[in-house]
Amino acid sequence: MDKIRVAILGTGTISESHIRGYRNNPKAEIVAICDNNEARLNEIGDRYNIQKRYTCAKELLENEELDAVSVCSFPVNHVELALLAVEKGLNVLVEKPLGVNYAETQVLVEKVKANGKVGMVGMTHRYRNDVKVMKTLIDAGKVGEIKHVNARLISRRGIPIGFFTDKAYAGGGALFDVGVHLLDLAWYLAGTPEPETISGNTMQNVGPVNTLTINRWRSSNPYNQDQSVFDVDDMSVAFIRFKNGMTMNFEIAWGVNGPTTEGIYVDVYGDKGGASLVPLAYYTEENNVVMDAKLTFGHNDWFQTEINHFLDCVENQVEPMSPIREGSTIIQMLEAIAVSSERRREVVLPL
Ligand SMILES: NC(=O)c1ccc[n+]([C@@H]2O[C@H](COP(=O)([O-])OP(=O)(O)OC[C@H]3O[C@@H](n4cnc5c(N)ncnc54)[C@H](O)[C@@H]3O)[C@@H](O)[C@H]2O)c1
Repeated sequence: MDKIRVAILGTGTISESHIRGYRNNPKAEIVAICDNNEARLNEIGDRYNIQKRYTCAKELLENEELDAVSVCSFPVNHVELALLAVEKGLNVLVEKPLGVNYAETQVLVEKVKANGKVGMVGMTHRYRNDVKVMKTLIDAGKVGEIKHVNARLISRRGIPIGFFTDKAYAGGGALFDVGVHLLDLAWYLAGTPEPETISGNTMQNVGPVNTLTINRWRSSNPYNQDQSVFDVDDMSVAFIRFKNGMTMNFEIAWGVNGPTTEGIYVDVYGDKGGASLVPLAYYTEENNVVMDAKLTFGHNDWFQTEINHFLDCVENQVEPMSPIREGSTIIQMLEAIAVSSERRREVVLPL
């Protein structure tokens, strides 16, 4: 089979994981890259020896013969760039969060459907081996009917640097940046039930900090490196009811004056059993005996697994494990958390 010809739109920090992922897979060939920050474009072009470089995504898409693109730009222009590629009939992998509001992501969902090609959102945590193990048990009915899910990801001082704290670029703070991973993972493990009502509270409880010796994720773009714009939440909580009767507690924070969680906590409570991600375990009762099982798994490179999956889906033209339509439902819920917080009351979906 011919190689899958790929372009990367946005050559920032995360684009390097995409580039390495495609380079490590013999099915793919990176044809061209684009970034409107020319210095960064050339830095990445030189580092990975990619010669075809564009500062305008539209121009790239008009000039190059492609099969697929990775959209790795700011959240505020994910949908805009993805639409350009979909309108050219290409397969798309869009970084998280899919977009900054539900309405724009729904436009993309419809265009992807009409295009008939692969539309995937980069929900990296779905591609973890421990998640695969937990999901396999849940899907096999081992927890029975899921009654409630607890989802928590708390960082002591994990506030990223750059555009992330500017709502105009990022759509939201911790809620959109890492809340998207947490909510997606918990919702995916629980079988993607339809959301019904949400009560949320978004807050800024730490704000800009210059904590010494902490490694923080940094945008490669020079904008807002001093964090002078900080108009987003750094913590959000929510209570979500789903149409199947399931409920979820959700708690996300970039920064708190409290303990950090050791990774993403998802606890699923069912009527036959339960399962937790950290530590990876299964809980049940048989013959009137309470049993807890520690689950064994081999670690994998999640990002490589995600890119390999995208390429397999492109090759076979099948729907991916993290389709754009599900990325859109996650944005619907995140947006509802923010709206509920503004209104200071529970909201009913659709808004
Ligand atoms: N999957 C993950 O776990 C994960 C991890 C980190 C970041 N991300 C996501 O990846 C995205 C990028 O994050 P980052 O840390 O790489 O940020 P970044 O600022 O380093 O990179 C974004 C790049 O996009 C470029 N860009 C913006 N608008 C553009 C346009 N219209 N055309 C071309 N280029 C454009 C910027 O100049 C910049 O170089 C974000 O949505 C972020 O949430 C995902």
